[in-house]
Amino acid sequence: MKWWQKTVVYELYPKSFQDTTGSGTGDIKGMIKRLGYLKSLGVGAIWLTPVCKSPMVDNGYDIEDYCAIDPSYGTMEDMDLLFAEAKKRNIRIVIDLVFNHTSDQNPWFLESKQSKDNPKADWYIWRDAKEDGSEPTNWRGIFGGSAWTWCEERQQYYLHTFAYQQPDLNWANPDVRKALYDAANFWVNKGAGGFRVDAIPYIKKPEVLKDGEPDGKDGMVSVHDMTVNTKGILDYLHEFKENVTEGHDIFTVGEANGVKASELHEWVGENGVFDMIFEFSHVNLEFKGIETWCKPDPWTIQDLKKALRNSQEATRDNGWYPVFFENHDKPRCTDHYFPEDADKGQCAKLMGTLLYTLRGTPFLYQGQELGYRNVKYDSIQKYNDISSYGQYDLALSEGLSEEEALKAVHRFSRDSARTPMQWNDQENAGFSTGIPWLPVHDDYKTMNVEAEEKDPSSVLVYYQQLAKLRADYAPFTKGDFEEILEEDENIFAYRRNTKDQSIFVLLNFSGKEVSYDCSLTENMQYIFGNDQPKTGVLKPYQACIYVKN
Ligand code: BGC
Repeated sequence: MKWWQKTVVYELYPKSFQDTTGSGTGDIKGMIKRLGYLKSLGVGAIWLTPVCKSPMVDNGYDIEDYCAIDPSYGTMEDMDLLFAEAKKRNIRIVIDLVFNHTSDQNPWFLESKQSKDNPKADWYIWRDAKEDGSEPTNWRGIFGGSAWTWCEERQQYYLHTFAYQQPDLNWANPDVRKALYDAANFWVNKGAGGFRVDAIPYIKKPEVLKDGEPDGKDGMVSVHDMTVNTKGILDYLHEFKENVTEGHDIFTVGEANGVKASELHEWVGENGVFDMIFEFSHVNLEFKGIETWCKPDPWTIQDLKKALRNSQEATRDNGWYPVFFENHDKPRCTDHYFPEDADKGQCAKLMGTLLYTLRGTPFLYQGQELGYRNVKYDSIQKYNDISSYGQYDLALSEGLSEEEALKAVHRFSRDSARTPMQWNDQENAGFSTGIPWLPVHDDYKTMNVEAEEKDPSSVLVYYQQLAKLRADYAPFTKGDFEEILEEDENIFAYRRNTKDQSIFVLLNFSGKEVSYDCSLTENMQYIFGNDQPKTGVLKPYQACIYVKN
């Protein structure tokens, strides 16, 4: 097995992790200060969301310079020190490659927009207006509004899958691809342990860009549906692999929403382009598409089981699965999967058990190990996330009241995943001595690292124990996945078998006590869980792990 299959990856949101200067924004020195904490979680790799120079319109996913550190985070010397200090602790640093688009302040774009015939004129996707002067197509960007923005200087529109400050690069141009591979190799040479590759299914655009059937009252169609996984995309990605990652002991995980299980073998594994891809069906149970963001679909535990089962099956022979339930774009899992009145501490531990026992590499998201909850600011203005604004407006245009739209923001805003790290019960939770860029969650007095480290029954200690078990028992990493009780409406149960040993995991996702066939755990030894085990019965949200030699 490769090192990255055996370890735990921690996704770190730099802006909110640890501020050491009083600026109100986390920084690289803060990461170095907390490496010991990450080590105590059994982490072997840290995926940093982008730290490159950026105007921060989308918190770093709008890159101005791929080979410079944003001054708010520190310097390249700080970054070099982070690589070195992490290495001492056997922790690798994973870089986020944002290659579908740049910032509109990137010198490449500043040059490209000047005229139709400058050397970088076709580094981005430029089109003339329609005859009536309107946008070239009726595509809606992922953050809401048209996916096209008019450029006065050049007298043309440019395409942006996300915000207008994030113009899409033209991958059809070999010079663009070379510049991106050079940027990635800059980080390989720094010693990166891997890459998370952002928004990758959008890099290739169709030959002809044309209107689509409107999917909302705004007369637009989601850009996602018009450009996702355009035929030929894999040729680019094979080229990326050959030029960047091949021959290095690093891993790649692509953010590749929309790749079907039947296509997976082309994307991951030996003949694929990445080692893993993030697939979102289990975190998007409530969404049919971006346009229905404010009208969530109801879902059942069976739906969740099905999504998890499918991804386990799809990666049985193809590549490897990156297990995740939270990231910087998603709400907190304690609120997402469980009702308001549930015991959230138990739910957090249940999700931790699932995260560490499914077959694949666990991607733990900052704060998840403390049992974080969503934030519910009382007005849309208090939110920072650019997509929450666009989606709030979309909700209003779909006929929701302001109150209903704000409720949807409470449920889904990306800011819930972005509130500052809670280190202690002091001012600003020990995150910063200045004014935090995003208000600290008001539960920090009890939910913080210092308090949870001292409490043997805390979510944090539970996560530390899980990491240790995962290192101690081979089936956690090497075992295959065999689902039991497939038809059960409340329990998700599975075995992870190796030749010599297997673990058996029982998870009650419901808020009621449920029973199961006692013989299932016969001759097995209980090793871990979030409550006292009782053969044949699971309490609400109870998680149990058994082992059989
Ligand atoms: C990232 C987001 C970002 C978007 C645009 C993603 O999918 O995870 O945080 O806003 O790409 O770069």
